Amino acid sequence: MATATTIAALNEHIGQPVRLQGWLYNSRSSGKLLFLLVRDGTGICQCVLEKTADNADMFDAARHLGQESSIEIVGEARADERSEGGVEVSASQVTPIHAAEGYPITPKPHGIDFLFKNRHLWFRSRRQWVILHVRATVIDAIRRFFNDRGFVLIDTPIFAPSAGEGSQTLFKVDYFGEEVYLAQTGQLYLESACMSHRKVYCFGPTFRAEKSKTRRHLTEFWMVEPEIAYCTVDDVIALAEDFICAIAQRVLDDHRSDLEFLGRDISKLEAIQKPFHRLTYSEAAELLHGDKVRTMLEQDLHNAKARVTELEKMIADKESERSGPGVKKWKAEKLAQEIAEHREELGDVETDVQNIPKHMELAAGFEWGGDLGGSDETIIARMHDRPVFVTHYPRECKAFYMKRDPDDPRVVQNFDLLAPEGYGEIIGGSQREDSYDALVERIQEEGLPQEDYEWYLDLRRYGSVPHGGFGLGVERTVAWLCGLKHIRETIPYPRLMGRFYP
Ligand code: 4AD
Ligand code: MG
Repeated sequence: MATATTIAALNEHIGQPVRLQGWLYNSRSSGKLLFLLVRDGTGICQCVLEKTADNADMFDAARHLGQESSIEIVGEARADERSEGGVEVSASQVTPIHAAEGYPITPKPHGIDFLFKNRHLWFRSRRQWVILHVRATVIDAIRRFFNDRGFVLIDTPIFAPSAGEGSQTLFKVDYFGEEVYLAQTGQLYLESACMSHRKVYCFGPTFRAEKSKTRRHLTEFWMVEPEIAYCTVDDVIALAEDFICAIAQRVLDDHRSDLEFLGRDISKLEAIQKPFHRLTYSEAAELLHGDKVRTMLEQDLHNAKARVTELEKMIADKESERSGPGVKKWKAEKLAQEIAEHREELGDVETDVQNIPKHMELAAGFEWGGDLGGSDETIIARMHDRPVFVTHYPRECKAFYMKRDPDDPRVVQNFDLLAPEGYGEIIGGSQREDSYDALVERIQEEGLPQEDYEWYLDLRRYGSVPHGGFGLGVERTVAWLCGLKHIRETIPYPRLMGRFYP
């Protein structure tokens, strides 16, 4: 009897009869051999069926099975160095469970809109499978980090009566005739909880009506937020540093081959070690105005233009080769695929050529007082080989609850953590204003309705203590660790402006 097993466990069954249940990822035949690439949710493995005198019908049926047909395979697990995972299956029986026809996502390249409309199927593609695995590991690492350190999980509400992070990005909800909002943060509630449990965290979906279409904004994303009583901003920074090191290490431990599959430069992740860099906002502003940044961006522009020329030539050459006389069908298909890939890159590089001068202008014209923009963060992050803490932002560009710096009341005791290689902000954190009077002043300064925050002010009326915390966005973190250009692949069903199906 063949043992029912999974692809991930095949190497425990070398030389034995096994049974797999999965889906047909791809197949090709060559004479009497049929190579079935099968995935089963735990991995991908090649199963080889040989045509014999007695199995001609089965062989033909299997040969005609469409991509993503569900199948059961019985065969023998064989060690094979050339195969991935070192195992392949020499199949003796291939039983279709459900024959799929015309599966829309083929191994050929597809446009991103098409793929997101088919997100429910795109899940099955290897790259998407790998990314969401890494996400699950990151989430597990997050929970373990806080649970192991005695933080108490506090689930904060999603219907919120008032703004936590600025009124520009609130999603309104009709709550039995009253207006409430989807939570932008759990922080204010956590502040109340840390006065009870001392060290707490919340972890859940967060909503921001971001009207910008950027590669780092979602309208629904997952954020983890720790909050600690009797804690200064330096304590929070130290915690964030340990936290990021722990997550990166866990992903390296569990996903080395997945990261390689994604083409991630692993040495960049190995370099994520304490201490991270630190600079103040004012130092960051100076950096943006400096020659180093200008030279770096001029070089980028030069490289991007050269790449455009190079890609255009490659595309033209391959086009003419493809339409030349006597080109084999497989060759023409291969060329078409390469051309599509070059075209995609060309689009990206052309966008860079348009954007780099704008980024130069923004950096050179950066004025003290404004928040760092996405391109400014990218520049600062690129100039460091490890994550970098930018601290002491002007209070007017940050949330009302941040504590002013006693040495310089123009700035607050906060930090953003920028991920290297241009990824930008993944964490925002601060010490909170714990003085009743100073907090009321800030609420008024921001024009917020004080009556909405009376409960929050109570925390400053009864046993107020220095406290602080941070928020980390899961998707930005996964995008960085996996080396992805865009955040949208890091969440099962991304919600962006203009995208909410399926
Ligand atoms: O910097 P933010 O807005 O901070 C807060 O919400 C604080 N209440 C956190 C705290 O101190 N407890 O958001 C924190 C992080 C950002 O650094 C980013 O990683 C992520 O949340 N984030 C987003 N991720 C995806 N799409 C968006 N639109 C995001 N906005 C913020
Ligand atoms: Mg922020």
